Amino acid sequence: KRVLVLNGPNLNLLGTREPGIYGAATLKDVEHLCASTGKELGLSVDFRQTNYEGEMVTWIQDARKTADAILINPAAYSHTSVAILDALKAVGLPAIEVHLSNIHQREPFRHHSYVSSVAYAVICGLGVTGYRLALEALAEKLNS
Ligand code: DQA
Repeated sequence: KRVLVLNGPNLNLLGTREPGIYGAATLKDVEHLCASTGKELGLSVDFRQTNYEGEMVTWIQDARKTADAILINPAAYSHTSVAILDALKAVGLPAIEVHLSNIHQREPFRHHSYVSSVAYAVICGLGVTGYRLALEALAEKLNS
């Protein structure tokens, strides 16, 4: 089975970006973690990052043909994007939302995520471990 892993804006700066909040791992590290976890679980993992909302929407639409499930960290678009929510609704694939930080412990504007209403699970506050756990949960769902 195929999982599309999508990362939103500014996640390309992981490792140098507010490390006290987001940790020391770089996006490459997260990609390696997802690749090795995918391998263990027998999943093929397509890992991407974009700083553009429209590109994210197009990738989600295309997932209809190329993926069985989606792991998404929409980053700041979580809190603003009805377009990403609608794209996820349109494709109807099982999706897990992941945030590195615990968004509920942070500024009030981060407490609401549009994506959470369509995701069947949300993981936040576990850093990069959240990506590994989300892949494990998706593997279990896809194989059941
Ligand atoms: C984030 C949390 C968001 O509020 C923020 O805009 C991000 C990253 C996280 O992974 O903790 O860019 O999604």
